[in-house]
Amino acid sequence: MASVTLSKINKVFGSDHIINDVDLHIGDGEFVVFVGPSGCGKSTLLRLIAGLESISDGDLSMDDIVVNDLPPRERGVGMVFQSYALYPHMTVYDNMAFGLKLAKTAKETVHERVMSTAKILQLEELLHRKPKALSGGQRQRVAMGRAMAREPRILLFDEPLSNLDASLRVQMRNEIARLHHRLGSTMIYVTHDQVEAMTLADKIVVLNGGYVEQVGSPHELYQRPATKFVAGFMGSPTMNFMPAELLAGNTSGCRVRATGIGELDLPQDAQQRQSGEALTLGIRPEHLCLAAPTDSNCFDIVNVEYLGNEVYVYLEPKQGDTLLIHRSEAPSQWKEGQQVSLAADWEKVHLFDDSGTALKLAEQQAAA
Ligand SMILES: Nc1ncnc2c1ncn2[C@@H]1O[C@H](COP(=O)(O)OP(=O)(O)OP(=O)(O)O)[C@@H](O)[C@H]1O
Ligand SMILES: [Mg+2]
Repeated sequence: MASVTLSKINKVFGSDHIINDVDLHIGDGEFVVFVGPSGCGKSTLLRLIAGLESISDGDLSMDDIVVNDLPPRERGVGMVFQSYALYPHMTVYDNMAFGLKLAKTAKETVHERVMSTAKILQLEELLHRKPKALSGGQRQRVAMGRAMAREPRILLFDEPLSNLDASLRVQMRNEIARLHHRLGSTMIYVTHDQVEAMTLADKIVVLNGGYVEQVGSPHELYQRPATKFVAGFMGSPTMNFMPAELLAGNTSGCRVRATGIGELDLPQDAQQRQSGEALTLGIRPEHLCLAAPTDSNCFDIVNVEYLGNEVYVYLEPKQGDTLLIHRSEAPSQWKEGQQVSLAADWEKVHLFDDSGTALKLAEQQAAA
């Protein structure tokens, strides 16, 4: 097992700067998930750790030893890709043994490792089969087995579940979580599925355009996103954003005017900011409250979606064209065509400045 430290890691392809000054520490045995939109550099960062791409600048250490120049096979990493690319003419056993044989591992050790890995992944009954006689989930387990049989210090996964159907994804997600509990090995997992990120990670790294936006536990990222980008990325349905203006602020809170809602007292520290500053108010769909409309606070319900366990109510503001979403447990009293006023659990709302940076809570500022 191993810890991994990235210090000011950069990657340049030709004239394109793809990874920018990434600093990150991954503790021994941690499950770290890289998330972010397509093209933000998740796979590239993983491949830099695996040694499949060269590092343009910065240091990559494993257990405090710089490994920038170490070839992949000497880094002790195992990698599982989206396309599991098993050898079709080989049995499950031979697929799992292949890497070990290539590394000239003693025959008895190969057998031992394949059998113990097969036991962990519950593949013992399938060892004699060829990949074409396996289900998608079973193939993905063999791909994991192939990476694990070499007993890597670190397991790297690049969107390993994205070829599977929805129910199999849930099942495999659960299996990967349990595998991590059992093995306790360091795992780095790339996905753009935020549910996978939230459910699997000890620590999530949100990437945006080759930069790290925020690193934190799923709870931290959901409750206290540092930027509007993270706030909008984590959570489904996504956070509601509405324009607001700062009226007054001090170290213990601030007063804002939110378009269509009115004046609000919020717990963010705005001591250093100018009144009149344009802000964005962020409210998660589950923190919105609906009530009877008033003259100054009136939204149209344009659609109500019933999902069985919960209901999404879509609201159209009088000004602005972005629909807002209210989420509540089913059943819901609200119907399309009704008018409502909007309120929220104001302690739980977020404020972002023009650059997308979140204003800290008064108490956070005091603690910092
Ligand atoms: N070998 C390469 N040469 C040039 N550009 C590359 C190379 N590999 C990746 N890139 C570019 O680097 C950027 C990041 O790619 P990367 O594959 O890391 O994204 P990603 O976050 O994994 O996206 P996705 O979610 O679509 O898999 C993209 O703009 C991509 O075109
Ligand atoms: Mg990728």
